[in-house]
Amino acid sequence: MTATLSTDVDREELDLLLRGFQVSRMLRLIADIGVADKIPTDGQVRVQDLAAACAVLPEPMLRVLRALAAFQIFQVTVDGSVAHTPRSRLLRTDTPNSMHHAARFWTGPGSWAAWGMLDVAMAGGTPHEAAWNMGRFAYLRQHQEEARVFDAMMASFPDNRHAAIASAYDFSDAGLIADIGGGNGAALRHILGRFSAPLGLVFDREDVIDAITPEKRMDGRIAAQGGSFFNEVPSGADIYMLIRVLHDWSDEDGSVAISERW
Ligand SMILES: C[S@@+](CC[C@H](N)C(=O)[O-])C[C@H]1O[C@@H](n2cnc3c(N)ncnc32)[C@H](O)[C@@H]1O
Repeated sequence: MTATLSTDVDREELDLLLRGFQVSRMLRLIADIGVADKIPTDGQVRVQDLAAACAVLPEPMLRVLRALAAFQIFQVTVDGSVAHTPRSRLLRTDTPNSMHHAARFWTGPGSWAAWGMLDVAMAGGTPHEAAWNMGRFAYLRQHQEEARVFDAMMASFPDNRHAAIASAYDFSDAGLIADIGGGNGAALRHILGRFSAPLGLVFDREDVIDAITPEKRMDGRIAAQGGSFFNEVPSGADIYMLIRVLHDWSDEDGSVAISERW
């Protein structure tokens, strides 16, 4: 076997991977203060004005933006004007399937501390529980702002799964579609937007349901019910969906969620 020698490019790329957390953290910072929305989609803004609009100092903001520009996230001119790139446009909240919420969630306090405890997984533990003494959903119940960021991130995930489901399956014969663990109802909005006959019912944790605003319910076509799928599941639907839910649970818990209540 011949050993392949590492190149300088390998070294540089590995270095960037090693320091990837710094990039993630900068992305969360600029998402938290709403930078992307304050830069015109096709124009530029002086960093002083941008910093003032974000209520931060221009010098440190310029440093962060220059660092991100090295990854083609924002463009910074020599005289300190800032413009969008295709990547930074994905961070605008008005971009379809915006990545703004993901930028805020992945290095948000809950995940940040959990990843810091990764070592415990090697001994069979659960990092989130080691960091917070509770599982992710119990944590989110106690941290409502982070919980809403999580809901929004799930609704606009980069895989665009809700649109894919709506276009891949013919839902026209369904009277009622129940989405169990359906977050803020994004999958149902995609499906009901495509099919005029069915009604939807989103079932999720109480705080997730309470946060669903009236305009998200499509003029009453989407009903919402709070509860735990470990205790109950609404009856009477023609189609039940469980999208990206079971991976959150052990095989035993997942089996309870799907087999004993339906
Ligand atoms: C990974 S998210 C997926 C959300 C949505 N299905 C989607 O595809 O975007 C998992 C969802 O399960 C919900 N969930 C967690 N535990 C639950 C429980 N015991 N009962 C009902 N929903 C629960 C969470 O609140 C969250 O909305």
